[in-house]
Amino acid sequence: MIYLGSDHAGFELKESIKDALEKKGVKYLDIGTDSLKSVDYPDYALKVAEKVKEDKDKNSFGILVCGTGIGMEISANKVDGIRAALVHDEYTSQVAKEHNNANIITMGGRTTTPTEALRFIDRFMSAKYEGGRHENRINKISSIEKLNI
Ligand code: RB5
Repeated sequence: MIYLGSDHAGFELKESIKDALEKKGVKYLDIGTDSLKSVDYPDYALKVAEKVKEDKDKNSFGILVCGTGIGMEISANKVDGIRAALVHDEYTSQVAKEHNNANIITMGGRTTTPTEALRFIDRFMSAKYEGGRHENRINKISSIEKLNI
């Protein structure tokens, strides 16, 4: 399952991602926003992050789009267990999965075209988390979450 969310600045890119997923027959859940009316990105980041956290299927992930992808990335990463990565090319999409085991990718509706976004998503979906030395680093991220500082 792919959980999709955006604010107004990411709305159009989210809609084109949705159309493409639909054509490919990929299952998604759109949690909004549903128009160009101004909204606050942390509200949508939180909704998608909660869905991703609840979903125990390791192939499920989230896609969050705001103007730059930055606000969505910062907000989603406040939720324990979420590893949200701003991707801006195919390489960062691939290593977000291989090294960081990202469970959410974020993108900018004002910085990324629909064609680029679909390439990034394809690359992320075909990459595999490598584990090994990366596992220790990801465990350290979880330890930071537990410090509550
Ligand atoms: C909205 O204007 C914009 O600030 C927001 O979409 C996002 O880019 C924030 O990071």
